[in-house]
Amino acid sequence: MVQDWACSVMNFSRSDCRRMLVSMMFDTAEQNRVIEPFGTNLSQGAADYPGLDDWRDLDVQQAPQWYDHEVLEESLHELSHVPPLVFAGEVDVLRERLAAAAAGKAFVLQGGDCAETFAGATANKISSRIRTILQMAAVLTYGASMPVVKMGRMAGQFAKPRSSNMETRDGVTLPSFRGEIVNGFDFTEESRRHDPRRMVQAYHTSASTLNLIRAFTTGGFADLRTVHSWNKGFMSNPAYARFDELAGQIDRAIRFMEAAGADFDALRTVEFFSAHEALLLDYERALTRLDSRTGLPYITSSHFVWIGERTRQIDGAHVDYLSRIRNPIGVKLGPTTTVDQAMELIEKLDPNREPGRLTFIVRMGADTIRERLPEVMEGVKAEGATPLWITDPMHGNTITAANGYKTRRLEDIMNEVRGFFEVANATGTHPGGLHIELTGDDVAECLGGSVAIDESAFDERYETLVDPRLNHQQSLELAFLVAESLAKDTAR
Ligand code: PEP
Ligand code: CO
Repeated sequence: MVQDWACSVMNFSRSDCRRMLVSMMFDTAEQNRVIEPFGTNLSQGAADYPGLDDWRDLDVQQAPQWYDHEVLEESLHELSHVPPLVFAGEVDVLRERLAAAAAGKAFVLQGGDCAETFAGATANKISSRIRTILQMAAVLTYGASMPVVKMGRMAGQFAKPRSSNMETRDGVTLPSFRGEIVNGFDFTEESRRHDPRRMVQAYHTSASTLNLIRAFTTGGFADLRTVHSWNKGFMSNPAYARFDELAGQIDRAIRFMEAAGADFDALRTVEFFSAHEALLLDYERALTRLDSRTGLPYITSSHFVWIGERTRQIDGAHVDYLSRIRNPIGVKLGPTTTVDQAMELIEKLDPNREPGRLTFIVRMGADTIRERLPEVMEGVKAEGATPLWITDPMHGNTITAANGYKTRRLEDIMNEVRGFFEVANATGTHPGGLHIELTGDDVAECLGGSVAIDESAFDERYETLVDPRLNHQQSLELAFLVAESLAKDTAR
């Protein structure tokens, strides 16, 4: 076999060969499958389908108080008639990819801003975020010996749940910032007003972001060799010398693939999916369309949507609405989650136990995950359910720095990832992926890393409007650390 020959020429072990060939599985033959174009499989206008308005009679947590009812109606009418942002066929492909991950045959990487901003939708910022995710994915593909399903918290991640409705500064109290799809960050009465026109702006910003994502990921920017050369640039910093061995293995694997005649033309494009928290049900409802192949409703604002920790009440509006749409969906599970709650969510959101339909995004905190997760994971397994489990090591590890900034420590983040892998391995469950808040820019928001960020950098380079994100280098460092951990697990 040509691979065997190339293995010996490159002085590779058979397991290295298998690792690279197997890991490219999604990115070659399967991704070229033709997906039906939009107009042919989604009806025009908001979906008319039984049950899609039932949520309106339920408790809607985190709902905005729009300042004007007429402007709201007008904005929603407009959104009901705009073109969908994603195809039903693409959404179905993602469900299949997530089914592979739930079955232990793929790893998922979801990454992006805590809260996107309208001003942040520039070519440079979008491309550096995609670049960061692709670089992480290349490293994780090698570490996991599996295809990595790539998803951005992008092109729609504008709405934020808040623990308090109001914010007080210097004796002035105004509505809290809820993400730019609802109100502005500036602390003025006008900016903090809940303005429904912002939903229309969020739609258009998502459309232009997704357009660029599609161009980048299919136009050659994502070529594996290019991504690999970026990673070599990252590794040229001596601070990352501890990853030399792993980086060297990846480099040899890429050279091996070239020697073995891997079809790099097919590796010039990658599948990249969009994801956001489905918090604003008015917005999601207006962008729900019926698939004309099946007559079933799809949220077309994004491929994947998730329910946040604050809106996952079993009798609440969010769980009800998402139970009725066809997209693959996620639910955040915080440290107070019980087995009963997890099972109720499964019964309601995935009664048919459809592979790839439901992802649990666990965010329990580094100190808590080893105590709380085993019972929940084992309980779900004992009931015979097989959701996809991924870790969000960000939201349970937020602290306030001495100088008042909201931050997270890279070591806590990695500790939670390790805890997640330990519990999953002990339970015989596939640790199926990572959900990370990151940016491609050189910000200083999270502490630590080999090129260490400390609190003194926050005054100059702290940009996020909500939660602190890993910067480009911290994100890649995390990917190398996780890849090392995964490689150890797969070698066992
Ligand atoms: C988030 O993902 O930004 C978020 C608010 O998470 P959670 O619902 O887990 O708190
Ligand atoms: Co966040």
